[in-house]
Amino acid sequence: MLRSVLVSKHIYREAIDCLAGRVAVDYNDSDESLTCEQLRTRLGGKDGVICQLTDRIDEPLLDAVPSVRVVSNVAVGFDNIDISAATERGVIVTNTPGVLTDATADLTFALILGAGRRLGESERYLRAGRFKQWRINLLTGWDVWGATLGIFGMGRIGQAVARRGRGFNMRVLYHDPFRLREEAEEELGIEYGSKEEVLTQADFVTLHCALAAETRHLIGAAELRAMKPTSVLVNTSRGPVVDEAALADALEAGAIAAAGLDVFEKEPEVHPKLLQLENALIVPHIASATVATRTRMCVMAAENMVAGLAGDRPPNIVNPEVLD
Ligand code: DGY
Repeated sequence: MLRSVLVSKHIYREAIDCLAGRVAVDYNDSDESLTCEQLRTRLGGKDGVICQLTDRIDEPLLDAVPSVRVVSNVAVGFDNIDISAATERGVIVTNTPGVLTDATADLTFALILGAGRRLGESERYLRAGRFKQWRINLLTGWDVWGATLGIFGMGRIGQAVARRGRGFNMRVLYHDPFRLREEAEEELGIEYGSKEEVLTQADFVTLHCALAAETRHLIGAAELRAMKPTSVLVNTSRGPVVDEAALADALEAGAIAAAGLDVFEKEPEVHPKLLQLENALIVPHIASATVATRTRMCVMAAENMVAGLAGDRPPNIVNPEVLD
Protein backbone atom coordinates (compact mmCIF):
# COMPACT_ATOMS: atom_id res chain seq x y z
CA MET A 1 0.00 0.00 0.00
CA LEU A 2 1.21 3.51 -0.80
CA ARG A 3 2.31 5.73 2.06
CA SER A 4 0.01 8.69 2.65
CA VAL A 5 1.02 12.33 2.67
CA LEU A 6 -0.81 15.53 3.50
CA VAL A 7 0.11 18.54 1.36
CA SER A 8 -0.99 21.28 3.72
CA LYS A 9 -1.49 24.15 1.27
CA HIS A 10 -1.37 24.95 -2.46
CA ILE A 11 1.97 24.13 -4.12
CA TYR A 12 3.17 24.06 -7.74
CA ARG A 13 1.68 21.30 -9.91
CA GLU A 14 5.15 19.92 -10.75
CA ALA A 15 5.48 18.79 -7.12
CA ILE A 16 2.09 17.08 -7.13
CA ASP A 17 3.16 15.34 -10.38
CA CYS A 18 6.35 14.22 -8.65
CA LEU A 19 4.32 12.65 -5.81
CA ALA A 20 1.76 10.98 -8.10
CA GLY A 21 1.88 7.19 -8.01
CA ARG A 22 4.62 7.21 -5.37
CA VAL A 23 2.53 8.24 -2.35
CA ALA A 24 -1.18 8.73 -1.74
CA VAL A 25 -1.81 12.47 -1.57
CA ASP A 26 -4.37 14.34 0.52
CA TYR A 27 -4.06 17.80 -1.03
CA ASN A 28 -5.36 20.98 0.57
CA ASP A 29 -5.31 22.81 -2.78
CA SER A 30 -5.96 26.18 -1.22
CA ASP A 31 -3.96 29.33 -0.49
CA GLU A 32 -5.46 29.36 3.01
CA SER A 33 -3.47 27.57 5.71
CA LEU A 34 -5.24 24.86 7.67
CA THR A 35 -5.98 25.79 11.28
CA CYS A 36 -4.07 23.85 13.98
CA GLU A 37 -7.20 21.77 14.53
CA GLN A 38 -7.65 21.03 10.82
CA LEU A 39 -3.97 20.15 10.48
CA ARG A 40 -4.24 17.73 13.39
CA THR A 41 -7.38 16.10 11.95
CA ARG A 42 -6.13 15.77 8.37
CA LEU A 43 -2.75 14.48 9.52
CA GLY A 44 -4.32 11.67 11.53
CA GLY A 45 -3.02 8.31 10.24
CA LYS A 46 -0.74 9.98 7.62
CA ASP A 47 2.93 9.08 7.12
CA GLY A 48 4.13 12.54 6.21
CA VAL A 49 3.34 16.19 5.67
CA ILE A 50 4.58 18.66 3.08
CA CYS A 51 4.16 21.93 4.93
CA GLN A 52 4.96 25.61 4.60
CA LEU A 53 6.35 28.23 6.93
CA THR A 54 2.81 29.24 7.92
CA ASP A 55 2.23 25.77 9.44
CA ARG A 56 3.33 25.34 13.05
CA ILE A 57 4.64 21.81 13.57
CA ASP A 58 5.11 21.70 17.32
CA GLU A 59 5.35 19.10 20.07
CA PRO A 60 1.59 18.80 20.79
CA LEU A 61 0.89 18.27 17.09
CA LEU A 62 3.62 15.64 16.73
CA ASP A 63 2.24 13.84 19.79
CA ALA A 64 -1.26 13.92 18.31
CA VAL A 65 -0.15 12.38 14.99
CA PRO A 66 2.39 9.67 15.89
CA SER A 67 2.09 8.00 12.46
CA VAL A 68 3.93 10.94 10.83
CA ARG A 69 7.52 9.95 9.95
CA VAL A 70 8.57 12.78 7.61
CA VAL A 71 7.97 16.53 7.78
CA SER A 72 9.04 18.22 4.55
CA ASN A 73 9.11 22.02 4.73
CA VAL A 74 8.81 24.02 1.51
CA ALA A 75 11.37 26.57 2.74
CA VAL A 76 15.02 26.72 3.64
CA GLY A 77 14.15 28.12 7.08
CA PHE A 78 12.53 25.72 9.52
CA ASP A 79 11.81 27.78 12.63
CA ASN A 80 8.12 26.81 12.23
CA ILE A 81 9.06 23.26 13.21
CA ASP A 82 10.14 22.07 16.65
CA ILE A 83 13.23 20.21 15.48
CA SER A 84 14.21 18.75 18.85
CA ALA A 85 10.67 17.43 19.42
CA ALA A 86 10.73 15.87 15.94
CA THR A 87 14.17 14.36 16.49
CA GLU A 88 13.18 12.91 19.88
CA ARG A 89 10.26 11.17 18.14
CA GLY A 90 12.41 9.91 15.26
CA VAL A 91 10.63 12.17 12.76
CA ILE A 92 12.72 13.21 9.74
CA VAL A 93 12.61 16.94 8.94
CA THR A 94 13.73 18.28 5.55
CA ASN A 95 14.04 21.72 3.94
CA THR A 96 14.82 23.26 0.54
CA PRO A 97 18.30 24.83 0.61
CA GLY A 98 20.26 26.03 -2.41
CA VAL A 99 17.45 26.43 -4.92
CA LEU A 100 16.39 29.80 -3.54
CA THR A 101 19.82 31.28 -2.85
CA ASP A 102 20.06 33.50 -5.91
CA ALA A 103 16.45 34.67 -5.88
CA THR A 104 16.86 35.65 -2.21
CA ALA A 105 20.17 37.38 -2.85
CA ASP A 106 18.63 39.27 -5.79
CA LEU A 107 15.74 40.52 -3.65
CA THR A 108 18.20 41.48 -0.90
CA PHE A 109 20.05 43.57 -3.41
CA ALA A 110 16.81 45.07 -4.68
CA LEU A 111 16.11 46.18 -1.09
CA ILE A 112 19.65 47.55 -0.69
CA LEU A 113 19.22 49.60 -3.85
CA GLY A 114 15.57 50.40 -3.23
CA ALA A 115 15.98 51.57 0.36
CA GLY A 116 19.32 53.29 -0.34
CA ARG A 117 17.91 55.19 -3.32
CA ARG A 118 14.46 55.75 -1.79
CA LEU A 119 12.55 54.00 -4.57
CA GLY A 120 9.31 53.32 -2.67
CA GLU A 121 9.14 56.89 -1.45
CA SER A 122 10.00 58.25 -4.92
CA GLU A 123 7.26 56.23 -6.56
CA ARG A 124 4.68 57.33 -4.00
CA TYR A 125 5.79 60.96 -4.51
CA LEU A 126 5.34 60.74 -8.26
CA ARG A 127 2.01 58.87 -8.15
CA ALA A 128 0.67 61.46 -5.72
CA GLY A 129 1.25 64.13 -8.40
CA ARG A 130 3.94 65.86 -6.35
CA PHE A 131 6.63 65.86 -9.10
CA LYS A 132 6.40 69.48 -10.25
CA GLN A 133 10.03 70.06 -11.22
CA TRP A 134 13.52 68.60 -10.96
CA ARG A 135 15.36 69.87 -7.87
CA ILE A 136 19.00 69.44 -6.87
CA ASN A 137 18.09 67.77 -3.58
CA LEU A 138 14.95 65.95 -4.63
CA LEU A 139 14.79 62.52 -2.95
CA THR A 140 18.54 62.23 -2.58
CA GLY A 141 19.68 58.91 -1.14
CA TRP A 142 22.88 57.04 -0.33
CA ASP A 143 25.48 55.60 -2.74
CA VAL A 144 25.55 51.84 -3.12
CA TRP A 145 28.47 51.67 -5.55
CA GLY A 146 31.70 51.61 -3.54
CA ALA A 147 29.96 51.63 -0.12
CA THR A 148 30.70 49.21 2.74
CA LEU A 149 28.35 46.24 2.95
CA GLY A 150 28.04 44.52 6.33
CA ILE A 151 26.70 40.97 6.29
CA PHE A 152 25.56 38.97 9.32
CA GLY A 153 25.53 35.27 8.46
CA MET A 154 27.92 34.03 5.78
CA GLY A 155 26.13 30.89 4.61
CA ARG A 156 24.95 30.29 1.05
CA ILE A 157 22.73 33.38 0.86
CA GLY A 158 25.22 35.63 2.67
CA GLN A 159 27.89 34.56 0.16
CA ALA A 160 25.58 35.17 -2.81
CA VAL A 161 24.87 38.68 -1.47
CA ALA A 162 28.61 39.24 -0.94
CA ARG A 163 29.23 38.39 -4.63
CA ARG A 164 26.62 40.93 -5.68
CA GLY A 165 28.20 43.48 -3.33
CA ARG A 166 31.63 42.93 -4.89
CA GLY A 167 29.99 43.46 -8.28
CA PHE A 168 28.96 46.88 -6.99
CA ASN A 169 32.55 47.62 -5.97
CA MET A 170 31.62 47.38 -2.29
CA ARG A 171 33.93 46.62 0.60
CA VAL A 172 32.29 43.55 2.14
CA LEU A 173 32.67 43.02 5.89
CA TYR A 174 30.97 40.09 7.59
CA HIS A 175 30.32 38.58 10.97
CA ASP A 176 29.34 34.98 11.64
CA PRO A 177 30.05 32.75 14.66
CA PHE A 178 31.72 30.41 12.15
CA ARG A 179 34.45 32.25 10.31
CA LEU A 180 35.12 31.06 6.73
CA ARG A 181 38.49 29.63 5.77
CA GLU A 182 41.03 32.21 4.59
CA GLU A 183 40.94 30.93 0.99
CA ALA A 184 37.14 31.26 0.91
CA GLU A 185 37.35 34.83 2.24
CA GLU A 186 39.97 35.63 -0.41
CA GLU A 187 37.95 34.06 -3.18
CA LEU A 188 34.87 36.08 -2.16
CA GLY A 189 36.90 39.23 -1.50
CA ILE A 190 35.42 39.69 1.97
CA GLU A 191 36.78 40.64 5.39
CA TYR A 192 35.84 39.22 8.78
CA GLY A 193 34.95 41.62 11.59
CA SER A 194 33.44 41.61 15.06
CA LYS A 195 29.76 42.38 15.43
CA GLU A 196 30.66 45.88 16.54
CA GLU A 197 33.04 46.47 13.62
CA VAL A 198 30.38 45.43 11.13
CA LEU A 199 27.71 47.61 12.74
CA THR A 200 29.88 50.70 13.07
CA GLN A 201 31.60 50.52 9.67
CA ALA A 202 28.89 49.35 7.29
CA ASP A 203 26.79 51.67 5.15
CA PHE A 204 24.41 48.80 4.44
CA VAL A 205 23.83 46.04 7.00
CA THR A 206 22.08 42.92 5.74
CA LEU A 207 20.98 39.87 7.74
CA HIS A 208 21.32 36.27 6.56
CA CYS A 209 21.26 34.14 9.68
CA ALA A 210 18.74 31.49 10.63
CA LEU A 211 16.32 32.29 13.44
CA ALA A 212 17.50 30.63 16.66
CA ALA A 213 17.66 31.59 20.33
CA GLU A 214 21.06 33.26 19.71
CA THR A 215 19.85 35.33 16.75
CA ARG A 216 16.49 36.50 18.13
CA HIS A 217 16.74 40.31 18.33
CA LEU A 218 20.31 40.18 17.07
CA ILE A 219 19.57 43.75 15.98
CA GLY A 220 17.95 45.73 18.79
CA ALA A 221 18.09 49.27 20.13
CA ALA A 222 21.78 49.09 21.10
CA GLU A 223 22.85 47.72 17.71
CA LEU A 224 20.78 50.33 15.86
CA ARG A 225 22.45 53.03 17.97
CA ALA A 226 25.85 51.65 16.96
CA MET A 227 25.06 51.94 13.23
CA LYS A 228 25.88 55.08 11.24
CA PRO A 229 23.00 57.60 10.97
CA THR A 230 23.39 57.34 7.18
CA SER A 231 23.20 53.56 7.12
CA VAL A 232 20.52 51.21 5.83
CA LEU A 233 19.35 47.95 7.41
CA VAL A 234 18.06 45.13 5.22
CA ASN A 235 16.39 41.95 6.46
CA THR A 236 15.42 39.01 4.25
CA SER A 237 16.10 36.34 6.92
CA ARG A 238 13.41 36.10 9.60
CA GLY A 239 11.51 38.94 11.25
CA PRO A 240 12.38 38.18 14.89
CA VAL A 241 16.10 38.62 14.11
CA VAL A 242 15.28 42.34 14.41
CA ASP A 243 13.49 44.04 17.29
CA GLU A 244 10.84 45.62 15.08
CA ALA A 245 9.64 48.20 17.63
CA ALA A 246 13.23 49.37 18.21
CA LEU A 247 13.77 49.57 14.45
CA ALA A 248 10.59 51.62 13.95
CA ASP A 249 11.77 54.04 16.66
CA ALA A 250 15.24 54.29 15.12
CA LEU A 251 13.82 55.00 11.66
CA GLU A 252 11.43 57.59 13.04
CA ALA A 253 14.20 59.33 15.00
CA GLY A 254 16.61 59.22 12.04
CA ALA A 255 19.07 57.11 14.05
CA ILE A 256 19.57 55.15 10.82
CA ALA A 257 18.65 56.35 7.33
CA ALA A 258 16.36 53.62 6.02
CA ALA A 259 15.41 49.97 6.12
CA GLY A 260 14.44 47.39 3.51
CA LEU A 261 12.37 44.60 5.03
CA ASP A 262 10.99 41.40 3.52
CA VAL A 263 10.18 39.73 6.85
CA PHE A 264 8.43 40.79 10.05
CA GLU A 265 8.26 39.74 13.66
CA LYS A 266 4.62 38.67 13.66
CA GLU A 267 3.81 38.00 10.03
CA PRO A 268 1.53 38.91 8.41
CA GLU A 269 1.30 41.78 10.93
CA VAL A 270 3.67 44.68 10.45
CA HIS A 271 4.50 47.19 13.18
CA PRO A 272 2.00 50.05 12.56
CA LYS A 273 4.75 52.66 12.63
CA LEU A 274 6.65 50.91 9.83
CA LEU A 275 3.54 51.13 7.66
CA GLN A 276 3.64 54.92 8.03
CA LEU A 277 7.35 55.63 7.74
CA GLU A 278 8.61 56.84 4.36
CA ASN A 279 12.10 55.46 5.05
CA ALA A 280 10.87 51.87 5.47
CA LEU A 281 10.74 49.92 2.21
CA ILE A 282 8.57 46.93 3.08
CA VAL A 283 7.54 43.91 1.01
CA PRO A 284 5.54 40.78 2.00
CA HIS A 285 8.11 37.96 2.40
CA ILE A 286 8.79 37.58 -1.33
CA ALA A 287 12.56 36.96 -1.37
CA SER A 288 12.23 33.55 -3.03
CA ALA A 289 9.15 34.50 -5.03
CA THR A 290 10.06 33.79 -8.64
CA VAL A 291 8.07 31.16 -10.50
CA ALA A 292 11.16 29.06 -11.25
CA THR A 293 12.48 29.25 -7.69
CA ARG A 294 9.17 28.45 -6.02
CA THR A 295 8.66 25.55 -8.45
CA ARG A 296 12.10 24.16 -7.59
CA MET A 297 11.35 24.50 -3.86
CA CYS A 298 8.10 22.56 -4.21
CA VAL A 299 9.67 19.79 -6.29
CA MET A 300 12.58 19.52 -3.86
CA ALA A 301 10.14 19.19 -0.94
CA ALA A 302 8.28 16.43 -2.83
CA GLU A 303 11.54 14.59 -3.56
CA ASN A 304 12.60 14.87 0.07
CA MET A 305 9.28 13.34 1.11
CA VAL A 306 9.40 10.46 -1.36
CA ALA A 307 12.98 9.58 -0.34
CA GLY A 308 12.20 9.80 3.38
CA LEU A 309 9.15 7.56 3.16
CA ALA A 310 10.99 5.07 0.93
CA GLY A 311 13.54 4.61 3.72
CA ASP A 312 16.27 6.43 1.77
CA ARG A 313 18.24 9.33 3.17
CA PRO A 314 16.41 12.48 1.97
CA PRO A 315 18.77 14.81 0.08
CA ASN A 316 18.05 17.73 2.41
CA ILE A 317 17.63 16.35 5.89
CA VAL A 318 17.80 18.88 8.73
CA ASN A 319 18.11 16.37 11.59
CA PRO A 320 20.32 13.55 10.21
CA GLU A 321 20.76 12.17 13.75
CA VAL A 322 17.33 10.49 13.45
CA LEU A 323 18.86 8.09 10.92
CA ASP A 324 21.85 7.10 13.10
C1 DGY B 1 12.53 30.28 3.24
O1 DGY B 1 12.65 29.45 2.34
O2 DGY B 1 12.87 30.08 4.39
C2 DGY B 1 11.95 31.62 2.84
O3 DGY B 1 11.72 32.46 3.89
C3 DGY B 1 10.72 31.46 1.97
O4 DGY B 1 11.23 31.18 0.74
